[in-house]
Parts: sequence; C-alpha cells; structure tokens
Amino acid sequence: MNDNAAALAQARRLVAAARRLTISTGAGVSAESGIPTFRDALTGLWANYDPQALATEEGFRADPSLVWDWYATRRERIAAAAPNAAHRAIARRQLAGGADVLLITQNVDGLHRRALEEAISASTSAPDAAAITHARESIVELHGNILRVRCLQGCGPPPPGWESDSRSPPRCERCGSPLRPDVVWFGELLPEHALARAHAAAGECDLMLVVGTSGQVYPAAQLPFIARERGVPVIAINPEPTPIDEVATVVLRGAAGAMLPPLLA
Ligand code: OAD
Ligand code: ZN
Repeated sequence: MNDNAAALAQARRLVAAARRLTISTGAGVSAESGIPTFRDALTGLWANYDPQALATEEGFRADPSLVWDWYATRRERIAAAAPNAAHRAIARRQLAGGADVLLITQNVDGLHRRALEEAISASTSAPDAAAITHARESIVELHGNILRVRCLQGCGPPPPGWESDSRSPPRCERCGSPLRPDVVWFGELLPEHALARAHAAAGECDLMLVVGTSGQVYPAAQLPFIARERGVPVIAINPEPTPIDEVATVVLRGAAGAMLPPLLA
C-alpha cells in the first residue's frame, strides 16, 4: 500500500467506529464545483479582490453598490454550479443513519443543502421522515448564507420577493436602509446559535473530519483543536498542508471529491 492508501484505510476504520461524527468543511469542498476558494494563491477570491472593501460593514457603507454587485455575481455563479462528489458523499452519509452526523460549514454557497435535497429525492430506500428532518437540521452554517439577505440596520430579513436584477441593493421596506447579504463579514460575530452548536459538537463528537479549509479563520479553525484536546481523533482532508495537520490523527492529502466518496461509503 502507498501512503495515501494506508491513510485512507486507517481513516475508514475511524469512520466505521464513530457514533457521533462532526464534519467541518471550508471552501475547498466547493472548489470542484467551480466555486473559487478564498486563499488559494492564484484563483482565490482574496488574491484578486480586497476583503476590506468587499467583506466588511465599512466597505459596504462606503460603496453599497460595489459590494452588492460583487455578491450578486457570486450568487449567480453559485446558482449555475452544482454540488460535487464531496457534497454528495456527505449528504448520503447524513441520510444513511448509523453514526449521528453534524455538518458544520464555513461555506455560504448552500451547496451542502442542495446536495442533501438531491440525495433525499434520489433515495430509493426512502429514508423516514424523522431521518430527513434530522439531516436537514444537522447543517450548521457558521458564516451565514449568500442566498439570504437582511436589513443593514437590523430589521431582519425582508419578505419574499426582494430578489432583483438591480446591481445596487434593494431597500428595507421597514426602515429604508439597504439590504445586505446575510453572511459574516470580517470583524463581525458569528451567528450565536450556529457557534454554540459547533462548540457543542466539538465537545461531544467522537470523530471529527475537517475538509477543505485553510484553518486560518477563527473560531472555525479552533474546532479540531477542541476535539483533539479531548483525545478525539481528527481526520484532515486537503491537497495542501494546513495548521490542522498538527492535530490530525490521519491526513488525507487530496481533493475532497476524490477522498470523501471512498471514506464515507
Ligand atoms: P480558504 O480559501 O482559506 O481555504 C481553502 C482550502 O481548501 C485550502 O486549504 C485549499 O488547499 C483547500 N482546497 C482547495 N481545493 C480543494 C479540494 N478540491 N478539496 C479539498 N480541499 C481543497 O477557505 P476557508 O478555509 O473556507 O469567510 O476560508 C474560511 C473563511 O475565510 C471563509 O468562510 C470566508 C473567508 O474569508 C467569510 O466569507 C466570512
Ligand atoms: Zn430595516
């Protein structure tokens, strides 16, 4: 066996033994759907765009149309993309039963949800209603979702029908402020409920799988360290080395779409 085959075999044994599996994903999971990551040297969004201008509240207030337009373009690209083999492998595992799976994602593209809905429709063995509900509720979006918007001043989400072709933000019907994407920007707190669930999962799981994240952004990057501190095995999947390798029991050096299907089958 070469190194990767041995690592995969070891990781498969860990997955088979797990009862409470937490899967934490980052932008690398959507790379094979054609969605750019943030920090890859040439293709990453932050190599080509200024995060201060495009991913902070100050940037939005300074030029709402520029920021809105950038998110609208990303939204269009996501709508035209499809879940890949990595999303599908996770979704099938969520429905399969056996281990209880909690999926924590930093991604705002909604592709995990789309993969789950596709898996539900495609399932021939008709998972029961409780399993479907549980799987739907077991996706935690730590950094929000680009498909949703909310009022900049805090009135909450607008009623349905806000979608527009306009390249500048629509206005909140209640207070007239611009609507902003419902994602976490630099300097902002994570949604409290999502963060609480992520911390609880890191404290309770018996296996953590970390896929396609550079491990640069906290608090998400902390989760595998919390698990490891408790002696829980961590599996890392990434074609490149990351700080998460330090706490990984097994590192699978490769693409999520190649590694996850055999790992979770
Ligand atoms: P990054 O862009 O920082 O890291 C992407 C990781 O995916 C890198 O480690 C790549 O090596 C890896 N990767 C690339 N292709 C892959 C593939 N096919 N399979 C597996 N891994 C692959 O993305 P994140 O770690 O998700 O925040 O970034 C974290 C946060 O920073 C994002 O959620 C975003 C950004 O600013 C917000 O927008 C709030
Ligand atoms: Zn408002």
